[in-house]
Amino acid sequence: MGAEGAGRRKDDHVRLAAAQQVEPAVRNGFDDIAFVHHALAGTDADRVDLGVEVAGGRWRVPFHINAMTGGSAATGRINRDLAIAARETGVAVASGSLSAALDDPSLLPTFRVLRDENPTGVVWANVGVERSADDARRAVDALGADALQVHLNSVQETVMPEGSRRFSSWPASLEAIRSAVEVPVVVKEVGFGLSARTLTRLHDLGIAYADVSGRGGTDFVRIENARRPGGDFGYLAGWGQSAVECLLDAPDPAPVLLASGGVRTPLDVVRALSLGARAVGVSGTFLAAVLEGGVDALVVRLREWTTHTRALLAVLGAESPAALVSTDLVIDGRTARFCATRDIDITAWARRSDAAPTPERSRHDR
Ligand SMILES: Cc1cc2nc3c(=O)[nH]c(=O)nc-3n(C[C@H](O)[C@H](O)[C@H](O)COP(=O)(O)O)c2cc1C
Repeated sequence: MGAEGAGRRKDDHVRLAAAQQVEPAVRNGFDDIAFVHHALAGTDADRVDLGVEVAGGRWRVPFHINAMTGGSAATGRINRDLAIAARETGVAVASGSLSAALDDPSLLPTFRVLRDENPTGVVWANVGVERSADDARRAVDALGADALQVHLNSVQETVMPEGSRRFSSWPASLEAIRSAVEVPVVVKEVGFGLSARTLTRLHDLGIAYADVSGRGGTDFVRIENARRPGGDFGYLAGWGQSAVECLLDAPDPAPVLLASGGVRTPLDVVRALSLGARAVGVSGTFLAAVLEGGVDALVVRLREWTTHTRALLAVLGAESPAALVSTDLVIDGRTARFCATRDIDITAWARRSDAAPTPERSRHDR
């Protein structure tokens, strides 16, 4: 496809993704996760440090603006707004796939703006797994990127009118990219989830970070199907695992996990962190904010999410995101059924805060 076609595709993606955001709220996997409330377990919000180490960098907050745009004039303007909001708030930001600019360097400024407007912030580049090792290096260099996201999107490619149907070379291509680039590689899905088997495979391929990016938020089956003249792939909507299911099913060892896909609120961020994500990516929800109110609206939103995330950690008695792993989680609904079929013990997740009981203490508790 020519660069003009790639640019039009990006504009379509933004328009169709934004349309999904204004639909009435739908339940997703995050709604299946509730915290057991312990009324005396809280801490002080000003004792909470939200900082996390991700891919060799120290982030101020455990959420980030995930991969979306670039490649057309309109999406270049969105990238500019994302970059300014990221700079003003210290939030990390990932670029949309640089494929269009790798094929047509005249489009590079629509991506490069992410770094130009945010020279000292955390900026990640993004390419599809089918790109060459040399392309991957060029993408990192173009943004002075701190890490490289490599996306796996076989379902999207299948429904995309101009998409690929050739996936067998992906593991070898991923390995070539990983050994060629000098920054950390973060492998991500685009909204269909990374299974336990995939995470094990990634670990075996030497991938240190993976964003499970699951079902329940932006749905690229519906986006690409709307771009097909016949709309004949609609029946695939809902394919894949939610981020929550992926986190619950994650193997050990596995890459360090990031989560995204359907994150709507700071509560969803805290749920994902409690399920073991190091950090949480947000695309559709932040896209809607920037399209509606520009850079100012996104800055307000990012500050609000920072304050709220800290407040929720205080209620849960967690002075850091890592401390959330001893919160007690009640798992319900479709996610509980997923756990039953995958032989995941949900009762253990509901009792994580129990201190190892001594015989006296458990007798007393009874
Ligand atoms: C408009 C738009 C464009 C996207 N483009 C990319 C992309 O170029 N590369 C990529 O890895 N993911 C891309 N994504 C996928 C997101 O990074 C994320 O995995 C997915 O949207 C699920 O998160 P969400 O529910 O918060 O939107 C895009 C998402 C949106 C909304």
